[in-house]
Amino acid sequence: MPETASPTAAPVVVTGAASGIGAAVVGRLVADGIPVIAADLYWPADAPERPSVHRVILDVRDPEGWAAVAALAAASTAAAGALAGLVNAAGITRRARIENVTAEDFELAFAVNATGPALGIQALSPLMASGASIVNVGSAAAVMAHYAVAYAASKWAPRGITKTAAMELGPRGIRVNSVHPGYIETPMTASASAAFRGINVELTPLSRTGSPSEVADVIASLLSPATSFVTGAELAVDGGLTSHGGGLPIARAIS
Ligand code: NAI
Repeated sequence: MPETASPTAAPVVVTGAASGIGAAVVGRLVADGIPVIAADLYWPADAPERPSVHRVILDVRDPEGWAAVAALAAASTAAAGALAGLVNAAGITRRARIENVTAEDFELAFAVNATGPALGIQALSPLMASGASIVNVGSAAAVMAHYAVAYAASKWAPRGITKTAAMELGPRGIRVNSVHPGYIETPMTASASAAFRGINVELTPLSRTGSPSEVADVIASLLSPATSFVTGAELAVDGGLTSHGGGLPIARAIS
């Protein structure tokens, strides 16, 4: 697998690239020979350098930060002609329930999980040409009731952003889709309770959690020409969690 991308290959910008799903996307793209501009709030000092990955510090809430990423992307796309894609994987969880959630929980969750991806699309889509692809990382919590109300609301929002951007950018040949992961083993879920993990496995038809690379593989497909007629779509990557709508415990109860 190539570790060094062709100097003329068009790059992809990935946010939340230092951890979990974002880091897995970077790994998959690098393996595919695609150069990456990898953005995160901070980078651990011991993170290994990779020749085809350009690391940047970005707070996705900050329009000026996005302008700096756009300037860098414009410079690095000079040879390739255009930016190939954007993966909005940065995200934060808020676990307060409705009886004790605060306005600050909502503001933070929406700023990172909803406004951030929208600012990224705004800043980077002008650098894209026909064939480019944008993927927003939603959540199973974006398509069903979820105990963490601010997180859930902030994850329902990017569905509207995805579909609106798909409509607006479609005439330019730019596709915009979202993926909705179920329970994936990352640093984010490492801090979840054992009860939360256990019930997720129980309600997932594949009876297990997922790995970041299983999400990255789907995102890589949505970035590639293999999905050239797919836009405005939402793809569950959740082992079937959201597909049964409560049918699974019912089926088990009567078996
Ligand atoms: P993670 O916590 O391992 O990684 C998230 C990354 O986003 C971190 O590197 C963090 O520094 C970065 N980040 C947070 N705020 C940022 C900001 N303001 N600007 C730039 N970067 C920022 O989490 P994980 O699990 O990899 O999550 C990735 C995405 O997948 C998130 O959007 C999350 O909501 C979503 N997701 C994760 C699930 C899971 O089970 N792990 C399930 C459903 C959705």
